[in-house]
Amino acid sequence: MSAEMNRQWLLKERPQGMVQESNFEYREQSIPEPGDGEILVHNLYLSFDPTFRGQMVDRPNYVPPMQIGDIMRGASAGEVVKSNNPDFQPGDLVIGAGGWQDYFIPDQADLMSVSKIPQGVSIPNSMSIFGLTGVTAYFGLLDVGQPKEGETVLVSGAAGATGSVVGQIAKIKGCRVVGIAGGPEKCAWLIEGANFDAAIDYKNENVYKGILKHCPQGVDVYYENVGGDILEAALGCLAMNARIVLCGGISSYNSEEVPPGPRGLMNLVRTRSRIQGFLVLDYVDRFSQARKDIAQWMADGLLVSQEDIQEGFENAPKTFMRLFTGQNRGKQMLKL
Ligand SMILES: NC(=O)c1ccc[n+]([C@@H]2O[C@H](COP(=O)([O-])OP(=O)(O)OC[C@H]3O[C@@H](n4cnc5c(N)ncnc54)[C@H](OP(=O)(O)O)[C@@H]3O)[C@@H](O)[C@H]2O)c1
Repeated sequence: MSAEMNRQWLLKERPQGMVQESNFEYREQSIPEPGDGEILVHNLYLSFDPTFRGQMVDRPNYVPPMQIGDIMRGASAGEVVKSNNPDFQPGDLVIGAGGWQDYFIPDQADLMSVSKIPQGVSIPNSMSIFGLTGVTAYFGLLDVGQPKEGETVLVSGAAGATGSVVGQIAKIKGCRVVGIAGGPEKCAWLIEGANFDAAIDYKNENVYKGILKHCPQGVDVYYENVGGDILEAALGCLAMNARIVLCGGISSYNSEEVPPGPRGLMNLVRTRSRIQGFLVLDYVDRFSQARKDIAQWMADGLLVSQEDIQEGFENAPKTFMRLFTGQNRGKQMLKL
């Protein structure tokens, strides 16, 4: 692989079942030249998000799917190296939708979403806790979940990027917080590293019994990142007037079939609860409010950002796949 070229990873074929390295194709192109009003960004880090697995296949989604041969989509952080735009100077550090490549020129629409990384914020933090991860946790929990002091908040995918921030914010709001994660190491970190009250290891425990044990008054807010059997277990343990925040369902992202169920929906009737889908992009106008609170909580030592930084452009497909095997420890990024 050559550093003087623009290295790229493309979608070679639509995955069937679990995403694998053979679904991607590597190529090198010459580095593009920015035109009038354009900038050239040199990517330094890539961010990996489970949602892009959904965009690799031709199914209805909140954005059109990628096409075969497209550069793999994804957020990136980089340095402006050439600028024909008065709003950007060479040397500016920015975040944008750069995709899996060394260099990119944001098109007119993308340029509006390219934002400068504020002074004093590290590049990894800008992609995790101050990036979409932090604001997803913030608005999903506070706006949709509406937790009240003393209530019980249950989080799935709890040791992941989003889930771990959700649980910490719920603790800041005075809730009892229980996380569901895969494996003893992640469960121990939830309690020791992220201030959760209890953790359920879904790979080694009966989740339904675990929720009953750790949420004796029932679950007031369930923050859902996983779906499937875990959602069914949570549905059976709701308190009255519970709120379920449907943020994601990673357990089915690599499935060929739309998963059946969930069973137990009538628990919503019995407990007068609601379940609500949520998309962080609907909150763009309020991101600065979330970032202000997050910065304060971090400064007060109440919130930690867990980041998993792999290295080497050649490892992009492998790094993406870590999200679906649970190898990642927090926000998955790749340093180029
Ligand atoms: N609605 C929105 O606007 C929005 C925005 C951002 C993210 N999301 C959603 O939030 C969720 C978390 O995303 P993230 O970026 O923070 O990733 P993440 O939680 O850091 O990483 C994904 C985690 O999911 C767990 N997982 C993977 N396959 C699983 C399976 N089959 N069953 C159970 N758990 C599984 C793994 O943890 P374990 O080791 O514990 O299994 C893995 O570490 C995803 O569902 C994503 O789509 C939604």
